[in-house]
Amino acid sequence: MIDLKTIAKFREIETPFYYYDLDVLYSTLNQLKKESDNSGYKVHYAVKANSNERILKIISSYGFGADCVSYNEISAALDAGFAASQIVFAGVGKTDKEIDAALRAGIFCFNCESIPEIEVINHIATKLNKVARIALRINPYIEAHTHKYITTAVEESKFGINTWELDEVLKKIAAFSNIDLIGMHFHVGSQITRMSVFKSLCSRINELQEWFSSHGINLSVVNVGGGMGIDYENPEKAPQFEDYFSLMNEFIDLLPGQELHMEPGRSVVGQCGSLISRVLYIKNGNQTLFAILDAGMTDLIRPALYQAHHKIENLTSDGSIYRYDVVGPICESSDTFAKYIELPETKRGDIIAIRSAGAYGEAMASRYNLRNLPKSVFSDEL
Ligand code: LLP
Repeated sequence: MIDLKTIAKFREIETPFYYYDLDVLYSTLNQLKKESDNSGYKVHYAVKANSNERILKIISSYGFGADCVSYNEISAALDAGFAASQIVFAGVGKTDKEIDAALRAGIFCFNCESIPEIEVINHIATKLNKVARIALRINPYIEAHTHKYITTAVEESKFGINTWELDEVLKKIAAFSNIDLIGMHFHVGSQITRMSVFKSLCSRINELQEWFSSHGINLSVVNVGGGMGIDYENPEKAPQFEDYFSLMNEFIDLLPGQELHMEPGRSVVGQCGSLISRVLYIKNGNQTLFAILDAGMTDLIRPALYQAHHKIENLTSDGSIYRYDVVGPICESSDTFAKYIELPETKRGDIIAIRSAGAYGEAMASRYNLRNLPKSVFSDEL
């Protein structure tokens, strides 16, 4: 809930901006920490979800690790206080320069997605006289039942190594002098709301555990990736970490001494952020009214890119209900946050909150139309 005192403060601030409610962030992190301490599972926060400096600092203060997908993310994580020994580096297209820098920084592990990539890592590690720890990202062939752009584990996907290639991968790795295979890694997709998807992942992991054991390989890490969804209909609802952790506990058969790692992103930061904007104009359409905001797809691209639904609230009106198309100022028809939704009578100058925008909001903002990047405001600054 965004309270009246906060709304009064919003009126004094230039819009659009991201508002981060620290109470929500801390309570989510406390919950996650509790589950991780109880289970012994290690959390690597997926930095791509939100790499705002202050948010990274807060998350690192909990002692969590970081899951990064570029050297710039690794560098931001290090600056924010994450330990190099708790950083994993993922992605299908790591450049030579990034691999070199990550090895020099002494990160924990590279999550690898192809033989050619492992070959390059071995080559660079040999030159630097270092041993690179790697985990194999394996395609588990599981349907995530989410938007197709964020489904990653179906057969024809650029992500992960196919299981039919694993024999070949092991042969190659055995010949690489500076590679230490320590784990297997998975990521089924994002915004997954059906726990059965994670249950399928657990079964697949158990099968692969047997496969590796039968090949005489002991892996010390099983990394289940991220993907836990949040409730976009209900921004006040915290993610169900407890259910997720107990499912992993019940269905994954870890071998003695093996660690379970995970990489939550959205579930950690999604509900603490809202995009705050002002209504510029109300314009007549043929069937609807357009509420034109000063925030657009450059600030929050998820509705335009994934037809994602975010709850929209008019914080400054309690008038009678009308229907509006809520749109931004960008020169694209896809710059639409929601179509034909009910809002209390909305006027120029009203303050609008687009909720559950803490994940993949600010992080995906662009300067298209040469707009300014959105600023961020934290609840303790008001
Ligand atoms: N690990 C890996 C290997 C990933 O690729 C991702 C997200 C995560 C962890 C974190 O997943 P999460 O817990 O946040 O679901 N921009 C899209 C989401 C893209 C997710 C990409 N990978 C969106 O706005 O919905």
